[in-house]
Amino acid sequence: MNLERLFSGRTKTMRPSEIRELLKLTQNPEIISFAGGLPNPSSFPIDEMQNVCIDVLKKHGKLALQYGPTEGMRPLRNSLANRAKKEGIDASSDNVLITSGSQQGLDVLGRVFLDPGDTIIVGLPTYLGALNAFRAYEVNFAGIPLDKDGMQVDLLEEKVKELNKKGVTPKFIYLVPTFQNPAGVVMPESRRRRVVDIANEYDLIVIEDDPYSKLRFEGDHIKPIKSFDDEGRVIYLSTFSKILSPGFRLAWMIASEPLIRKLTIGKQALDLCTNTFVQFIANEFIEKGSLDLHIMKIIEMYRPKRDIMMESIKKYFPSDTVCHKPKGGMFAWATIPGPIDTEEMFLDAIKEKVAYIHGKAFYVDGGGANSMRLNFSYSSNQTIEEGMKRLGKVIERKLKEAAAQ
Ligand SMILES: Cc1ncc(COP(=O)(O)O)c(C=O)c1O
Repeated sequence: MNLERLFSGRTKTMRPSEIRELLKLTQNPEIISFAGGLPNPSSFPIDEMQNVCIDVLKKHGKLALQYGPTEGMRPLRNSLANRAKKEGIDASSDNVLITSGSQQGLDVLGRVFLDPGDTIIVGLPTYLGALNAFRAYEVNFAGIPLDKDGMQVDLLEEKVKELNKKGVTPKFIYLVPTFQNPAGVVMPESRRRRVVDIANEYDLIVIEDDPYSKLRFEGDHIKPIKSFDDEGRVIYLSTFSKILSPGFRLAWMIASEPLIRKLTIGKQALDLCTNTFVQFIANEFIEKGSLDLHIMKIIEMYRPKRDIMMESIKKYFPSDTVCHKPKGGMFAWATIPGPIDTEEMFLDAIKEKVAYIHGKAFYVDGGGANSMRLNFSYSSNQTIEEGMKRLGKVIERKLKEAAAQ
């Protein structure tokens, strides 16, 4: 059988994710992995979840085990709209679409907005999973460099102008403004307002992807970009993956009603509806007041992990390593000046039984060669220091080898 003849043009251009292949190498339990974006499994509220499951089955069994509407179950949409209102987002349940993970949300956004050849704007660096979701729609990326305050909005405006001059109107700007994946940085309010102004002026959609803002270890909460949106241009995404369980595959989007209607149609053919049982479980967890308590526990668990990682960078990495201390989230982003290619170094690190994700994976312009993303949430406190020590040795060796050449 000639499979190649049968595959669609789109499938023929699909490439296996190199990162997935690399991550397979990290499955060995002897490897200390800073690679994945995994929550710490000891944070999962397993005992409490048992009771919540029983309560849901008793109270809502017939609905919870049935198909549900594509938009999601009304009680959960209501709870999420109420939580959003506390952050200054003007939303009712009609503005909420439940998705099977934010990853599905990103794919739905691609389906609804993107034609082959369209241009979208992303950060340099940005979340790899979003790049993969949008790549499937055969788009062009325009990258905007980040600094310690996230996407540089002056450069954003310049880029939009430059594209407009060439007759290109980008469809949307994708950003992760709080505890960015991978760079860990936070965009201040002034920049958030500016993003909305630019979107209004140049007629763009803004996709605000926000899995991490609740995981703040210190400093004041900054309102989401969506809260400054006065024209219904911002689509806000968040997820239960990092604050409760990624296994739930449960997330949500908040947008204007016309957009929610289109996005719902976009999602319909993907899964009919998101797992109904899990929607009831999550809502019960919120209504009992358990979610906020749980988030506080995660914060207390992750803060010392972040501290150990930062201290280890000082202790074991070259003294000129640049790594801004993240005030929340799950990632540190380290850049090592000098002749280091973190992609090339990866197999050396695996030999030393430690893993990370190399910087280039997060760039659409080939940048990031001497950076790496280090996850601190997954490993135990003891293994973080040991893993960083191993990584420090690998870097030292690489730099010596380069100096000798
Ligand atoms: C920025 C960002 N967006 C989306 C996702 C996907 O989240 P979910 O598990 O809800 O699909 C992740 C997961 O790591 C992420 O970091």
